[in-house]
Amino acid sequence: AAPAPRISVVGTGYLGATHAAAMAELGFEVVGVDVDPAKVEALSAGKVPFYEPGLPELLVRGVESGRLRFTTDLAEAAAFADVHFVCVGTPQQPGSNGADLRYVEAAFEGLAQHLTKDALLVGKSTVPVGTAALMAERVRSIVPADGPRVELAWNPEFLREGKAVQDTLAPDRVVVGGASPWGEELLRRVYAKPLATGTPFIATDLPTAELVKVSANAFLATKISFINAISQVCDKAGADVTVLADALGHDVRIGRQFLNAGLGFGGGCLPKDIRALMHRAGELDANWLVSLMQDVDEINMWQRQRVVDMAVEACGGSVLNRRVGVLGAAFKPDTDDVRDSPALNVAAALHLRGAQVVVFDPEAGETGKRSFPALGFGTSTEEAVQGADVVLVLTEWPEFRTADPVALRALTTGATVIDARNCLPAQAWRDAGWTYRGLGVAPVQG
Ligand code: UDX
Repeated sequence: AAPAPRISVVGTGYLGATHAAAMAELGFEVVGVDVDPAKVEALSAGKVPFYEPGLPELLVRGVESGRLRFTTDLAEAAAFADVHFVCVGTPQQPGSNGADLRYVEAAFEGLAQHLTKDALLVGKSTVPVGTAALMAERVRSIVPADGPRVELAWNPEFLREGKAVQDTLAPDRVVVGGASPWGEELLRRVYAKPLATGTPFIATDLPTAELVKVSANAFLATKISFINAISQVCDKAGADVTVLADALGHDVRIGRQFLNAGLGFGGGCLPKDIRALMHRAGELDANWLVSLMQDVDEINMWQRQRVVDMAVEACGGSVLNRRVGVLGAAFKPDTDDVRDSPALNVAAALHLRGAQVVVFDPEAGETGKRSFPALGFGTSTEEAVQGADVVLVLTEWPEFRTADPVALRALTTGATVIDARNCLPAQAWRDAGWTYRGLGVAPVQG
């Protein structure tokens, strides 16, 4: 049999670091490349520079086996690998909804300049549709006609933070766009393990592959904003959105996941991806999607305002000099990621209105403090709740769900809890003497 392809991973953020470690775990020789020497140094020492369950173990195994190493030198990766995965970020452009493609361009151009042997360049980053074809064009213009065989394919990544390792080792599907039979064969070898267990392999063209990823995120965001819009109706009509979502979820065509009403979506992907899609659809004059995504985005941002308003109301009309306890800073549990975090957005809005905010998060205290140095951060649930006029649960960490409402009640005066993720056992909190408020959950009558 032909020797196993050697792999490079360009960009070692959440996606790249996980992908590189997973490829080494599958038995491949892997080099990870990043422009940031600090990241390379940390990863080389087996340290993951962010919180991701299971990844440190995987990384250490890879590094210790000798199959996984990291470098800042793209030329080294170009000389080493047969398959190059481009995993760099595509952040939102400042002052626009469009995606900033400079890192993607730099990765493909840099690789193309250094290649001296046959290579398959595989884009994994989430990009506006049409980007892959542009990159293929650029690569073709750089690699000399009599040079090595260099091809491009697109292989979007669907991993979730907090579940990145399992999503990478056992993906729901493998989507490959634009690969020649040679490229497809290489990728089938790279993904041989998951494919052997029946993971669907979908081979398609470049634009379809790019769009699968973007539409998956757009659909998930739409589901969340849909249930949040319904939760507003529930509030007005005295209905309970959690019971409603459970009942809807039994319809397999709908499904229960991503129907949790609450503070809405944040993080490094969903918000910027729907905005980039809105922007790109506008350029393509595909206007229904523009207005649909605008509504999804607006509903999502409105949820944050809704929670701020609830906190102000709980404090009798003003939070000026009131103590607000905030439980949660990460954009969701099981991560220390605070990019576009709804929780910190709400905490900061209350701080701006003059509240004394103390935030606690089991993992995201440090990253939170770095992004919002003006906010107070505590080191325990008790510290955040102590003396609070109102307590807000903004990220549904298990330790908040299972906190003892009786013990916490003794620490406060105001005793209103706003459960912005509908994650607490409401009755237990009421029984402990709290005024409980959720989003779209009927207040108890009488
Ligand atoms: C998402 C996609 O799920 C993943 O497939 C893609 O590769 C990257 O973007 P991630 O950003 O890690 O992953 O988070 P996800 O678990 O999707 O949650 C996104 C946000 O939606 C979180 O802020 C979460 O709190 C919120 N959410 C999720 C809800 O508000 N309600 C829900 O029912 C589900």
